[in-house]
Amino acid sequence: MKPAFEVRLKANSYPVYLGNGLLRSLGHLCRHHEVPEYVVVLSDTFSGRAALKGALAALRRSGFRTLSLGMPAGERQKSPERVGQLHTAMLRAGVPRQAALIALGGGVVGDVGGFTASTYRRGLTFVQCPTTLLSQVDSSVGGKNGVNHPLGKNVIGSYLQPKFVLSDVALLQTLPRREVITGLGEILKYPFVGDPSLLDFIEKNLGQIMKRDQSTLRRMAERCLCIKTQLVSRDEKEQRARGRNLLNVGHTVGHAIETLSHYRIHHGEAVFLGIIAEGWISVRRGWMTDEPVHRLASIYRRLRCRFNLDGISTASILKSVSSGRQKFILPGDGGRLSVVNDVTPDELREGLRFLGGL
Ligand SMILES: NC(=O)c1ccc[n+]([C@@H]2O[C@H](COP(=O)([O-])OP(=O)(O)OC[C@H]3O[C@@H](n4cnc5c(N)ncnc54)[C@H](O)[C@@H]3O)[C@@H](O)[C@H]2O)c1
Ligand SMILES: [Zn+2]
Repeated sequence: MKPAFEVRLKANSYPVYLGNGLLRSLGHLCRHHEVPEYVVVLSDTFSGRAALKGALAALRRSGFRTLSLGMPAGERQKSPERVGQLHTAMLRAGVPRQAALIALGGGVVGDVGGFTASTYRRGLTFVQCPTTLLSQVDSSVGGKNGVNHPLGKNVIGSYLQPKFVLSDVALLQTLPRREVITGLGEILKYPFVGDPSLLDFIEKNLGQIMKRDQSTLRRMAERCLCIKTQLVSRDEKEQRARGRNLLNVGHTVGHAIETLSHYRIHHGEAVFLGIIAEGWISVRRGWMTDEPVHRLASIYRRLRCRFNLDGISTASILKSVSSGRQKFILPGDGGRLSVVNDVTPDELREGLRFLGGL
C-alpha cells in the first residue's frame, strides 16, 4: 500500500497512510512495518465504540496478540495519573518490553498513548491510528505527546515518533458535529502556514465538511498533512526559530482560553478563537489586511458557533498570557508568519474585543 506522505527524519522516517476504509489493513500494515507480536490497543469510550472492534479483528487476522485498554474520553484524561494507571494495567497484564502500543482515538488518546508508550519499560513501538478530524490532520503526525499539569497544558511529555500513521477517513462518520468544528478550528491555522487557498476550499465546501463527506475530508486532510509532514521533517524537535513552532499560530490565545475554561472549550475551538484574535492583532499592526480575519469570523457565524466564554475575562486572559513576554506567532499577508514576544496588553485587548463582537 502506498502512503500518502512520508515524514523524513534522520533516524526514524515513517509513512502516513490516508484513505477510506483503511482500518481493515491495520494488521497487514503492522506486519509490513515489523511491529512486535504483542500489541496494546488504547482507545477511549467513543473511539472504542467507533473503531475498536474493527481494529482488534484486523490485528488478530494478521496473527497479533492483543490487549485492549480503555479510558474515559476527554481532555481531563491527559494526566500523569491516567498514564500511571495504564502502566499499572500493562505491568499486571505482563506486557513485555518487545511490544507495541496503538493509539486508537483522537488527540487525547494519541497524547496519552504516546507518553505511556515512550515511558513503559523505556519505550515501546508506537503506532498512531487517529479517529477524529483534529488528530487526522494534525496531532497524529510529529511525535509530540504529553499530559497536562495543574500548572500548564502539555508540560509533561516526550517525543516518540510512530512507526506509521493510519488515518481512516471513514471513521469520521460517527464524529459529533461539535468535534467536526473542533477539527476545523485547528485546520484553520493551515491557510496561514503555507496554504492560503485552503481558506477558499473550506468556504466553498463547508456544507460537505459538516456532512462528513469522505472525499472532501480526505482532500482537506491531504492539504494539511502536506504542510505538517514538511515542517516536522525539517524540525523534528521544535528547535528551529521558524520550524514547526509556526504551527502554533493562534495557540497563545487559544491555550489561555482552553485552560481558563478548565477544558470546557475544546482545543480546536479555542484555537479557532485564538487565530481570529491573533489575526486581528496582525491587522492592527498593519501586517495583514483585515479580509482573512473577517472570512474566519464569517465561517464562525455560518457554523453558528457559540463557544461559551462565560467566566473568562479579558483580564484573566491577559494574566494567563502574561502579555509582553509570551511568544506569539502572528499571521501576515502572503503567508508570512512573524514570531514575536512584544505583543502589548492593549493589542491583546483589541484582539479579544474583536472576538467579543463575533
Ligand atoms: N501532539 C500533538 O502534536 C497535538 C497537536 C494538536 C492537538 N493535540 C491535542 O489533541 C487534543 C485534542 O484532540 P481531539 O480534538 O481529537 O480530542 P479528543 O481526543 O478528546 O476527541 C474528541 C472526542 O471525540 C471522540 N471520538 C474519537 N473518535 C471518534 C469517532 N470516530 N466517532 C465518534 N467520536 C469519536 C472522543 O472520545 C472524544 O470524546 C488536545 O489535547 C490537544 O492538546 C496534540
Ligand atoms: Zn493545536
